[in-house]
Amino acid sequence: MVIKKVGVLGCGLMGSGIAQVSAGAGYSTVVKEIADDFLKKGLSSIEKSLGKFVEKGTITRDQRAETLGRLKGTTKFEDLGDCYIVIEAITENLQLKRETYATIDKIVKPLAIFASNTSSLAITEMMTATKRVDRFIGMHFFNPVPLMKLVEVVGTITTSKEILDEAMKFAASLGKVPIRTSDRSGFVVNRLLVPYLLDAIRALEEGVGSVEDIDRGMRLGCGYPMGPFTLLDFVGLETTYYIANIMFEEFREKRFARPRCSNVLCWPVITEKKPAVDFTTTRTPPIRNRCIKL
Ligand code: CAA
Repeated sequence: MVIKKVGVLGCGLMGSGIAQVSAGAGYSTVVKEIADDFLKKGLSSIEKSLGKFVEKGTITRDQRAETLGRLKGTTKFEDLGDCYIVIEAITENLQLKRETYATIDKIVKPLAIFASNTSSLAITEMMTATKRVDRFIGMHFFNPVPLMKLVEVVGTITTSKEILDEAMKFAASLGKVPIRTSDRSGFVVNRLLVPYLLDAIRALEEGVGSVEDIDRGMRLGCGYPMGPFTLLDFVGLETTYYIANIMFEEFREKRFARPRCSNVLCWPVITEKKPAVDFTTTRTPPIRNRCIKL
């Protein structure tokens, strides 16, 4: 199958990045949001990001204009109908994702691939909301999408080999490096990253070091681009908390259990606003500001 048009569901932090790299790689791309103001915000973040690349000389002004020319925003599911692949990056809520997939399964052509950008939910559980169980995969991108090279390509027990190969080729055509993994919560990266981030919080709780020293330790001692607390702020504490809970639910292992302090810090946002929490707009103050008393 030759992918001629790409659909992206959600134009938040991840969806906008995915739409940007797709249009930038030459694909006609349509990105769908639930409302015009979300769409406007997402599209303007794409313009800003492309502007930075122009400033740095990574792309030319013409390439920026061509990329934007290939990109179309919409609030209608129907505009995804003729896409060859739809990458979903909406709120991490299984029920909402299942409903969305059930809707687009009737609209998007049967041969199209559905790919979820979920970081921890089960691909299999989303897949069962559709009839295309052989062409349903995970494609997990990393933040910031325009800069991070990795994509995890996730197959389920029913994904066809041909579709997995297609997805690997497609990810590479976006300028990314794909790795193959299976449908286990957290895939490769979050399986290793989440316990590390949670351990940083535990280390802080136990007085092993301050936020600054733990960050400095990992940056200068291990060469990580960001220390764990900076990364927690970058990923979002709510997001990490949410992923950790899903992983704990799946594996029942202590390393995925949320530290007490993350409970205090993460609090009610998760529960009170459930299920419509939008992690891109409900960000809490950086962890540093909230750790002063510890
Ligand atoms: N588009 C275009 N340019 C961007 C950008 C974007 N979206 N985001 C940042 N940049 C630019 C910055 O403006 C900056 O430009 P200048 O050099 O002109 O200032 C440049 O990229 C480099 O950024 P910074 O100087 O701010 O910092 P940096 O050199 O440390 O690089 C980084 C930034 C690539 C984010 C780097 O810090 C890094 O790799 N951090 C780790 C990120 C990471 O771990 N991401 C994965 C998170 S986990 C995840 O996403 C999965 C999940 O499920 C939770």
